[in-house]
Amino acid sequence: MENRTEQMRKIKDEIVAAKDSPLYGYRIKNKYFPVIGEGRYSAKIMFIGEAPGRNEAETGRPFCGASGRILDELLASIGIDRKEVYITNIVKDRPPENCDPNPNEIEFYAPFLDRQIEIIKPEVIATLGRFSMAYIMKKFGLESELKSISIIHGKVFSAATSYGNVKIIPLYHPAVAVYGTNKEILKKDFKALSGLIGQ
Ligand code: URA
Repeated sequence: MENRTEQMRKIKDEIVAAKDSPLYGYRIKNKYFPVIGEGRYSAKIMFIGEAPGRNEAETGRPFCGASGRILDELLASIGIDRKEVYITNIVKDRPPENCDPNPNEIEFYAPFLDRQIEIIKPEVIATLGRFSMAYIMKKFGLESELKSISIIHGKVFSAATSYGNVKIIPLYHPAVAVYGTNKEILKKDFKALSGLIGQ
């Protein structure tokens, strides 16, 4: 069995070469990078956002623009450094004009995300936004509990995985707080998240 670094490198190589991706042409035309993910491969918490924005596609790093600054602030509010967690998205290439990810993009990239979850084996998966919430809850058999994010944000769900139990906490996307409002709701939900580690 290869180690985590090798398995993750393989995922990166496959995505870089993925000419059959619906977003490959757009990436090449704009000289963008795919955004694979960043952080500790043995992280207890895995954050899953939606898709890279322009800053992310220009650097290859997840959450490095305005939403990333909010995410860093939220992590700091619960005393967690970004380096201790793993941060990725469902969709690994930037969709045009920051559109919501569409179903064929999610379908194409989700198997890579599934492999990343198997590599990291997080104790907690925190979804950022409604697309990653819906994907993860369905993937882990929680479809019947899936409701609007305004109802289930900050709630904790448990699911069985191939490597043991995982806790899933849907969070609002940090972009909702870029202009100040909603940050308090996110801070409260991050407090709930911080209570889940090592439980
Ligand atoms: N929004 C996301 O969902 N992901 C990023 O990486 C950046 C912004």
